[in-house]
Amino acid sequence: MSSGKTILVVGSGGREHALAWKLAQSLRVEKLYIAPGNGGTKLLGENVPIVATYIEKLTAFAVERRVDCVVVGPDDALALGLIDVLRAKGIPAFGPTKAAAEIEASKVFSKQFMAEAGIPTAEFKTFSDYEAAKKYLASRSAPIVVKASGLALGKGVFVCETMSEAEEALQRIMAEKMFGAAGAEVVIEEYLDGQEISLHVFSDGVSYSLFPTAQDHKPIGENDTGSNTGGMGTIAPLPWVTAEMLVEFEKRIVAPALIGMKAKGYPFAGCLYPGLKMSSGGVKTLEFNARFGDPETQSYMRLLKTDLLDIVEACIEGTLENVNIEWNPGFACCVILCSKGYPGSYEKGKEITGIEEAEKIPGVVVFHAGTKLEGEKLVTSGGRVLGVTAIGKTLKEALDKAYQAVGKIHFEGMYYRKDIGAKSLRYRP
Ligand code: AMP
Ligand code: GLY
Repeated sequence: MSSGKTILVVGSGGREHALAWKLAQSLRVEKLYIAPGNGGTKLLGENVPIVATYIEKLTAFAVERRVDCVVVGPDDALALGLIDVLRAKGIPAFGPTKAAAEIEASKVFSKQFMAEAGIPTAEFKTFSDYEAAKKYLASRSAPIVVKASGLALGKGVFVCETMSEAEEALQRIMAEKMFGAAGAEVVIEEYLDGQEISLHVFSDGVSYSLFPTAQDHKPIGENDTGSNTGGMGTIAPLPWVTAEMLVEFEKRIVAPALIGMKAKGYPFAGCLYPGLKMSSGGVKTLEFNARFGDPETQSYMRLLKTDLLDIVEACIEGTLENVNIEWNPGFACCVILCSKGYPGSYEKGKEITGIEEAEKIPGVVVFHAGTKLEGEKLVTSGGRVLGVTAIGKTLKEALDKAYQAVGKIHFEGMYYRKDIGAKSLRYRP
């Protein structure tokens, strides 16, 4: 009899494909379920047709199939308390509790927490009254940032170059309620310029371990122009981040956040992902995410050397200090291929070809996000369709391989940014 474990990964994006890909390499994993998964995860395990926010159904499934461990990807499932419900049924689950996930799910909570804990962040004010918010806005000047407090599918942040844009954003969030209850409170904050950094930390609530740094590319267009997306590509690690900078991030952001959450009675176990900005006034925390970043995780899983199941179990059991987490040397990158029209409305059902050819290039792995299998045919089913990842001794080598692989892949209307990592290449000594 094998003593291998049964694992359930919750989510359907490139992040979940990357997590499932890494877990599938663990010698201790025998059976892998992905709910609901995508066209790529189907090749690694069994897709289960339950979406991430159906927490009762997911829990019933985990109990029935005697799942040994659940790894949760998406923010909304965490904010709904999936971890709490699973644990109440005795199922070990990786991720923060509903209370700890507030650090992402409520920007008002998160900003107030940062202020209390002395974590550097943009100057801000919070409002639940539209007239009061309008009055405050009238006393400020552009550029300025208006944010819906709740989860808004990554679309709740308005970086406004003019005051009329800011007024319109506020009106749409608070008066027209474009995000429903997620916009009942808003944060209005100072605009920060500078390079963005994605920091990730594994934590069991007390002990923690930092990942290498990464950088996402949020805007749809080259040179960071156009609408914000879920993320158009990532690189890791950032060649220009020094050991001194990492020590500062740990001391001023990571440690106070984890100590502060524990002191509040909501110890954070799982993956904490602070989004940082290197502004002219020093490092500032834009936000805390209570989960793995996407597409950051697609690059990260290519670099992680340690068995992901060992880490996940240690985070759940509170034994992370006993795990020596190792990352491979070199660099990884991910180039997102998306559907024409994304992040606006886009067409689906376009046939995808060339993935096999792309993966023949040494060091290349293609993760699926918005794909599904229609019989034998792989077709597009989402805005972000594929994440083409590559590793290399240098960042340039990784990027060259990824773009070479992109050249082999085709679907009608395929769009991608051609400058992923370009800014960081210029910083390379
Ligand atoms: P958030 O969900 O808070 O990370 O915001 C999404 C994106 O909006 C970030 O990745 C930044 O690119 C941008 N952003 C958020 N807050 C600010 C700010 N205070 N100044 C400049 N850009 C911001
Ligand atoms: N990298 C963007 C996100 O996961 O929120």
